[in-house]
Amino acid sequence: MARWIIAIDGPAAAGKGTLARRLAAHLGLPYLDTGLLYRAVGRLVLDRGESPSDAEAASRAARELRPTDLARSDLRGPEADAAAAAVASVPGVRAALLNFQHDFGAGQGAVLDGRDIGTVVFPAADLKLFIVASPEARAHRRWLELRDRGVAVDPAEVERDIRARDAQDAARAIAPLRPADDAVVIDTTALDRDAAFAAVLEIAGERLVPGSA
Ligand code: DC
Repeated sequence: MARWIIAIDGPAAAGKGTLARRLAAHLGLPYLDTGLLYRAVGRLVLDRGESPSDAEAASRAARELRPTDLARSDLRGPEADAAAAAVASVPGVRAALLNFQHDFGAGQGAVLDGRDIGTVVFPAADLKLFIVASPEARAHRRWLELRDRGVAVDPAEVERDIRARDAQDAARAIAPLRPADDAVVIDTTALDRDAAFAAVLEIAGERLVPGSA
């Protein structure tokens, strides 16, 4: 089995998680949702009664993160979103999580999704995809997802949140969200899940050379 490293980056709710998970299963590679790392660090800090924007506390929690922390059931929702975004701008957190991500990919290769996988974590990845969709399309998808889970929210509020997270991800001084120069950008605004996955498979087929990893 090829030990490819595949980086899938992009803004919140563009569909990268679903695509990354499907691609990993298709290729028989381990999959890591790197957003969960930031979410779990944020939770550890909150558990200790400390502030996610306290750089010392957040960096300590990131160094102590264990794989089992990623299986917690409380990593989604507004409180976890805010804590994750706060710890994600702490340099000590990003440095500690860099090691975690390198170790994850080092063995059998991996598909990783996040914001900075192709630019910072694995700049020499075998394949880099940058998944985008309009803020309206992403907000609509997130709203449908929440509705299906029985969460009633105002669509305008979901769109406001998406735009606020975009601004926060792009403005971050450390590892801001941007496509790597050699990333292939896929716009999923007009694509359903299967069409988006077909686009990913086509690019993977062109770029991943059997026997190259
Ligand atoms: O993708 P997500 O919503 O689960 O990400 C949670 C937070 O972590 C979000 O604020 C962006 C940040 N993040 C990051 O800075 N770098 C990554 N590789 C993944 C997520």
